[in-house]
Amino acid sequence: MSNDTVRALQWSERGLRVLDQRRLPSVVEYETFDSAQGVAEAIFSMRVRGAPAIGIAAAYGVVLAARQRYRENPDNWREAIEADLAKLASSRPTAVNLFWALDRMRSEIGAVEGDPEPHLLQAARTIHDQDIAANRTMGDLGASLLVGASGVLTHCNTGSLATGGYGTALGVVRSAYRQGVTNIFATETRPWLQGARLTVWELEQDGIPATLIADSAAAYLMKSDAIQWIAVGADRIAANGDTANKIGTYALAVAARHHGVKFMVVAPTSTIDWRTESGESIRIEERAQSELLNEYFARPSSVIKAWNPVFDVTPAELIDCIVTERGIVRNPNRQAMKVLADAG
Ligand code: MRU
Repeated sequence: MSNDTVRALQWSERGLRVLDQRRLPSVVEYETFDSAQGVAEAIFSMRVRGAPAIGIAAAYGVVLAARQRYRENPDNWREAIEADLAKLASSRPTAVNLFWALDRMRSEIGAVEGDPEPHLLQAARTIHDQDIAANRTMGDLGASLLVGASGVLTHCNTGSLATGGYGTALGVVRSAYRQGVTNIFATETRPWLQGARLTVWELEQDGIPATLIADSAAAYLMKSDAIQWIAVGADRIAANGDTANKIGTYALAVAARHHGVKFMVVAPTSTIDWRTESGESIRIEERAQSELLNEYFARPSSVIKAWNPVFDVTPAELIDCIVTERGIVRNPNRQAMKVLADAG
């Protein structure tokens, strides 16, 4: 597909090649990680980020762990690999795709005979391929809702950089663009600037015109009638449809309801955490104060500190629909979400 050229993760014989998203858009550089420890660090440091991409990276991390542990001692690699699984699991707390992928790889470990690498590599590749396939399906489903719309706003980066490829909400944007939705807006997404550094770069690579706005311009944009939809991704969707996503998503949903703009969450079912009843119990990652203070207030101060939650929870009642590869849930709540569990 011509308008999907970027890849965040590539497997090679030497290990996992990770496009360093901290350095985009000025430097486009892949780094190869040959250990689970390295992959965990790549996730923690946000060289790779975005819920599905984190899960896929962790799956390949398990392959690297198995390679190392089996070489060290073929008789007890299953016990030894537990430390690597724990390391990967501790890399970031909110995106449930990380824990979903580790659970899936753990069940594959149980099915291994002999050298674990071929079996586990196949399992990781399947997770990767299935994510891309799910994104393409969600792209078509989500775009079908945008028929007749002229404009859409997206938040954070949910594209090929954040997934196996194509993207979730940005996949919908790609598909909608092909069907004639040409007013595409992206928020800056402070403080890490996933929108300003990643989304607009990714769209530029694929020749999709877009307009960058400051986060604080979003409500004013909605008032102008330039957009009819907001499409965002998710890091964890609770069983009742409450959705944790990049900080600022909640504010967008509140403003969208006020202005009559429709609000869509796009995520594969691997992002749904059926064990979490509501958004209340989703753990929200807080990152270093320096991410906020560094640029403008870098000197140490005993008076000023920063609060840096990097996700928030949008209650289900502010979400018009959740688009997954298994179908669309309109007006999500516990009952409506069950259709997805039953379709699995
Ligand atoms: O902190 P990040 O960049 O990992 O946060 C990413 C997001 O919040 C995305 O919207 C979400 O993971 C969905 S990506 C398809």
